[in-house]
Amino acid sequence: MDKRITVLPGDGIGPEIVTQAVAVLDAVAQKYDCHFTYDFCDIGGAAIDRTGSPLPQETIDACFASDSVLLGAVGGPKWDGLPGDQRPEKGLLGIRKALGLYANLRPARLFPQLATASPLRKEIVEQGIDFLVVRELIGGVYFGEHKTENVNGEWVATDSMPYAEHEIERILRAAFDIAMKRRKNVISVDKANVLDTSRLWRKVAARVAQDYPQVTYTDMLVDNAAMQIVRNPAQFDVVVTENMFGDILTDEASMITGSIGMIPSASLGAGTRGLYEPIHGSAPDIAGQDQANPIGTILSAAMMLRYSFHQTAGADAIENAVQSVLDQGLRTGDILDEGGVLVGCAEMGQAIVSQIKK
Ligand code: IPM
Ligand code: MG
Repeated sequence: MDKRITVLPGDGIGPEIVTQAVAVLDAVAQKYDCHFTYDFCDIGGAAIDRTGSPLPQETIDACFASDSVLLGAVGGPKWDGLPGDQRPEKGLLGIRKALGLYANLRPARLFPQLATASPLRKEIVEQGIDFLVVRELIGGVYFGEHKTENVNGEWVATDSMPYAEHEIERILRAAFDIAMKRRKNVISVDKANVLDTSRLWRKVAARVAQDYPQVTYTDMLVDNAAMQIVRNPAQFDVVVTENMFGDILTDEASMITGSIGMIPSASLGAGTRGLYEPIHGSAPDIAGQDQANPIGTILSAAMMLRYSFHQTAGADAIENAVQSVLDQGLRTGDILDEGGVLVGCAEMGQAIVSQIKK
């Protein structure tokens, strides 16, 4: 197997965590006799500084010329003053959209080794936390019209949240397809008591559900879902929801598993090319200090092997190696517990690499 991977380190801790994930991919390549070529490109603040744009055309071209994309994180205080359409985040939204990656898969799985890192009570954690949020990624309020206008002497800002039936249908189908390979339970999250987009969402969801008679399907209001995630997370298998609800709920879901630093994601579209990134941000406060947790990015690389390259052995090897180093007690600061051994970003990455090479 020979694959070309576009690597977008981005800002803040992005470069450090991506370095470790690339080292892990190299270890997999060596062990499983495959070959990866990396094409490093700029995105976000790093791209703004070099080219003036958060998503230069050469970066888009490189992504289209590759088999998959690995991304670190974007954003930071340095670029916070820029207008909305020139911010680093615009680069991330732009590449998701350009590649047509409408389905963002974000697992919320508690590693048993990290049970004490979860802020939830032991009785709740013991029920098990293993669900997958399928977040719609290229529609809704993120991509609706944004405007700020002066009306009668005061500023009025509007963000619109459009959803077309076909956008809802394809993400629901993605969720049901995945549920068929899991515990066959889909909870669709919306705000149908207030929003038109949610009422349409529910209609389409009910229609799609008819094609999956083996899957149990329920609707849940987003405020209730936020509560249920901390009250009884064991009830969730596959959660499907629109873009902004998914953004918010996945930060919540990640925290109950111990740390947002552990959570990978895969963004997929119609083809096999995906974009793989941890769900956390660029953490400018610890950037460049070798303190970041690289596991979310390393597990994102595992998802790339699994979903885009169908390299299951390599993906399993990475996931098992992560389990092993956690078993050994190695912890970055965000997941440090009593008895844990504090390590930096590079040491954590190298420990996972050594484990794979064993
Ligand atoms: C995420 C992030 C992004 C989002 C930001 C950085 C634009 O929070 O991937 O969850 O809101 O999608
Ligand atoms: Mg987010």
